[in-house]
Amino acid sequence: MTAKKKVLCAIGTRPEAIKMAPVILKLREQAWCDLVVLATAQHRDMLDQVLSIFNIVPDYDLDIMQKNQALPELTARLIMSMDQLLTDIEPDLVLAQGDTTTVMVTAMSCFYKKIPFAHVEAGLRTGDIYYPYPEEMNRVVTGHMTTLHFAPTETSNNNLLKENIDQSSIYVTGNTVIDALIYTAKNEYDIGIDLDSGKRLVLLTSHRRENFGAAMEEAFTAILELAEHNRDIEILYPVHPNPNVLEVANRILGNHDRIHLIEPLAYPQFVQAMKSAYIIISDSGGVQEEAPALSKPVLVLRNETERPEAVDMGVVKLVGTDKEVILHEANKLLNDEDYYSSVAKGVSPYGDGHSAERIVNIIKDYFFTRA
Ligand code: UD1
Ligand code: UDP
Repeated sequence: MTAKKKVLCAIGTRPEAIKMAPVILKLREQAWCDLVVLATAQHRDMLDQVLSIFNIVPDYDLDIMQKNQALPELTARLIMSMDQLLTDIEPDLVLAQGDTTTVMVTAMSCFYKKIPFAHVEAGLRTGDIYYPYPEEMNRVVTGHMTTLHFAPTETSNNNLLKENIDQSSIYVTGNTVIDALIYTAKNEYDIGIDLDSGKRLVLLTSHRRENFGAAMEEAFTAILELAEHNRDIEILYPVHPNPNVLEVANRILGNHDRIHLIEPLAYPQFVQAMKSAYIIISDSGGVQEEAPALSKPVLVLRNETERPEAVDMGVVKLVGTDKEVILHEANKLLNDEDYYSSVAKGVSPYGDGHSAERIVNIIKDYFFTRA
């Protein structure tokens, strides 16, 4: 029998765990695969929340998170620990998903050790290295240290080609977030908070570094005014635990009877909240991909996106953090039913729920057919 191949999946934050879970669960079924799951724990509680939902127990845990961690020290701590682990584990291939510091450091550590690296959700680009910050540069750097690129869409495939990456190393697989969403959304869950069923739900998330400070304050002021002007809405905001977000959220939105600031929801409960929402306002990458598949309009608190597909289809709208623009667009969705129906049309440009299967088949092929 051919020797098994050791595949290491590295995950650091909540969205990486959600999007990597379908791949990990598929790899676990493969007789040829000796699977190693590594949690860097760049996020602690939010990562653990996802891992327990998908019954994933990491083989290694670097427990790296510190309160209000700065990028240089996070990167430095990660790269030292990652190098030692790769020396000890000696994987045949390493996988990571997305654009976080965990992903960039994992790719770089593999490069230093000449270990092949596979990138899930490859090729997303805004074209502006400071937007989103530091994720755009993480993607660019990672892309140039990658052996197998799993691009979610043709657009991301083309972004890689523009950077002179060889087409023979790129595979358009769809985004595994839709696998996770379909798996989760088929059931109903109790969100666990008392919402008024007579009111329409506006779901809010916000955490982007480039919005910290004045931009986030202006966006939250718009949300407060939105609640005051529309007495038939309730706003649900699971607040990201980053101290830079928590402080502004509590100060501006913390004292209104129809604005509920809560801790991050477990993934199934968050999916339920998206299903229950009338509109979603968010700067999240994952939410921009999930909401269109659930027929929910999203106003994105950003000026640019690396996920243009749903914007082009008219189901996602970029509103930035300007108060008047946010209020105008949100009020239009809340108060013009025809407009709302034209936006909430249920399209899923990011995947069909079979992305993890494609990725695992390509990895198998890489080891046993192409080798
Ligand atoms: C990180 C990623 C971002 C991704 C986001 C997903 C980087 C540079 N940023 O941003 O790309 O979109 O995760 O949410 O990789 N914290 C906790 N508990 C947790 C998680 C975070 O308390 O479970 C707090 C800690 O104080 C931590 C801080 O949030 O230091 C920031 O975490 P970090 O991962 O550095 O940045 P995020 O803003 O979460
Ligand atoms: N999410 C969650 N609980 C929450 C808020 C979001 O499970 O309270 C999920 C959401 O469905 C999506 C992912 O977390 O899959 C997005 O994570 P985040 O916005 O933190 O990161 P990004 O996608 O912007 O990198």
